[in-house]
Amino acid sequence: MPTADGFRRFAATEACGESPCYEEWALGVAADPEVVALLDALPEPKRQPNLVFTAARYAGIPAGPYRTFREALLAEWATISEVMLARRTQTNEPGRCAVLLPLLAALPPPLALLEVGASAGLCLFPDRYSYRYDDRPVLGDGAVVLGCNTTGPVPFPAAVPEVAWRAGVDLNPLDVNDSGDVRWLETLIWPEHNHRRARLAAALEVVRADPPRIVTGDLNEKVAALAAEAPADATLVIFHSAVLVYLSQAERAAFAATVRRLGAHWITNEGSGVLPVTAPPSPTPDKALFVVTMDGVPVAHAAGHGHTLHWLPT
Ligand SMILES: C[S@@+](CC[C@H](N)C(=O)[O-])C[C@H]1O[C@@H](n2cnc3c(N)ncnc32)[C@H](O)[C@@H]1O
Repeated sequence: MPTADGFRRFAATEACGESPCYEEWALGVAADPEVVALLDALPEPKRQPNLVFTAARYAGIPAGPYRTFREALLAEWATISEVMLARRTQTNEPGRCAVLLPLLAALPPPLALLEVGASAGLCLFPDRYSYRYDDRPVLGDGAVVLGCNTTGPVPFPAAVPEVAWRAGVDLNPLDVNDSGDVRWLETLIWPEHNHRRARLAAALEVVRADPPRIVTGDLNEKVAALAAEAPADATLVIFHSAVLVYLSQAERAAFAATVRRLGAHWITNEGSGVLPVTAPPSPTPDKALFVVTMDGVPVAHAAGHGHTLHWLPT
């Protein structure tokens, strides 16, 4: 897709209603041939709106009007493009655990959790957070409370599941004790989302107390060996959220075949169209929602950051 179209689509389907600043910046870039030409000189995976905007803010450009942003972007392009080439979009959103929990809690405990594309590992701790679905009583006793508004016949868990083992794979695991990685995680959160920044800080404390094992490497190369380390008496669950979009169709198919061969349960929370599953139309057609699947079957749509969950009729 031409770069300008990608920014226009990001403005309409992702930033609209979520981040007035990013919506304005994305529409501004889409209509700015000088900035588009700079982006087009970078490798295609590096032209993502989220990466450009995060790198710019990481380099010190504050949220504000597009005119100020583009002047600073042009002036600081050498620094910003260096950040873009060195870093990736690795948003680690613990709120996504609220989407995974109903599926995890329905499996026989204890669980062995293997997350591919784990980033800093914040989604590997669904048992250490608390959950507030709609106006129901809070579930769990973790200090970090994840709120989630739902529709449809959600199988609300009675308790958070017991986790016996957890591990992850990532091309570039982020270190919860590294100040540069933590600042990158903070900057990946969109400017207006102060509640997510506070939640990230609290979730980082949870992970620092018990850092998970995250193997460095490609998920297709590492997943089978890591799965073999899971305790045999736990229910192995391989899961991922906002990850397979970064893989080619052939790599996604290879991964699906590997997971099926391993005999693990497989939970996915990915953008619509990323996996070859047929889900009913999204309840919010103008808004990009993720499709949640369990063992290859679509069960729900969810907001990208986990704050809404629309369970499909059974
Ligand atoms: C957008 S982040 C999502 C992080 C986490 N799953 C979450 O939902 O909060 C995507 C992560 O996938 C990782 N990733 C992308 N392609 C990968 C691959 N082929 N193998 C392993 N990790 C990969 C990236 O490095 C990044 O940390």
